[in-house]
Amino acid sequence: MNHPYQRPRRLRQSATIRAMAQETQLSAADFLVPLFIDEGENLRKEIPSMPDYYRYSLDLTLAEIGNYVEMGLKSFLLFVKVPDGLKDNVGVEALNPEGLMQRSLRAIKAQFPDTCLMTDVAMDPYSSFGHDGIVADGQIVNDPTVSLLARMAVSHAEAGADFVAPSDMMDGRIGAMREALEAAGFHDTGIMAYTAKYASCFYGPFRDALDSAPGFGDKKTYQMNPANAIEALKEAQLDVAEGADIIMVKPGLPYLDIVHRVKQSVQVPVSVYQVSGEYAMIKAAAARGWLNEQDAMMESLMGMKRAGADLIATYFAKEAVEVLKRR
Ligand code: PBG
Repeated sequence: MNHPYQRPRRLRQSATIRAMAQETQLSAADFLVPLFIDEGENLRKEIPSMPDYYRYSLDLTLAEIGNYVEMGLKSFLLFVKVPDGLKDNVGVEALNPEGLMQRSLRAIKAQFPDTCLMTDVAMDPYSSFGHDGIVADGQIVNDPTVSLLARMAVSHAEAGADFVAPSDMMDGRIGAMREALEAAGFHDTGIMAYTAKYASCFYGPFRDALDSAPGFGDKKTYQMNPANAIEALKEAQLDVAEGADIIMVKPGLPYLDIVHRVKQSVQVPVSVYQVSGEYAMIKAAAARGWLNEQDAMMESLMGMKRAGADLIATYFAKEAVEVLKRR
């Protein structure tokens, strides 16, 4: 065939035509911004394994949120760093109405009522063992942990959370949380479930940020085996049936097949988390001049959206919106 009638290059021949033929678009509304909040005042600490990303005290977090909101970034994932002295094996501090998470929610909502605040619900930042659940005889015990997480969810809702985001991977926690929220009258507080959360090495930098690495063992008895995909579909069905409003796949780039399959198997929005290690990889390669940071960032984010993610949690949110504005 010397003269093909179909010439796909026709749709690539100029920037205008390429823009016209572009199938996937990214915008500020796609992004969820993770925020690391610490005790103290006027504190701004760069996370060593996450260059240009900081942990802020609450006062500076409020200022940062002001900057984000101005850029059109209005949805946040809140994480708190808990002082060692307040960590235990039962989550006392996690339920403290005056705890850092609860205080942060009230302060942010008072100043920025139009934001969407999603709180991390898991025990690890509060756990003396650095695990996502209560430990007994070296095991992470499921049902007692689920009761605690349900109370944590209600505590966050009382303080103003729009969504609770359980990242723990215990069985049955979505149903228990939904039930507890309904019983407490929080009918409109949503649940974004970390549904297919894999036992991944790519969380390393995050654990530096919150000082939350497991004190013994690993998280393989609750987070998923990276070799499994069917299991992600099972988790997705369970979470939706139990009342999840949004479900998440995590990490991002190594799991885009999971994003795609999960998206096709459910009728709720799917989010993906471009995790700390993915951020660190791009930053590290760019620092050595081996990759162009902004191009690698935009290509990765575009891949996640193209795979089927409706929402993307990313440490690059601000930088990505700056790039989108320039284009
Ligand atoms: C804790 C939690 C983790 C992340 C989000 N919530 C770490 C873990 O499970 O050990 C990881 C986020 C990231 O790496 O960016 N439940």
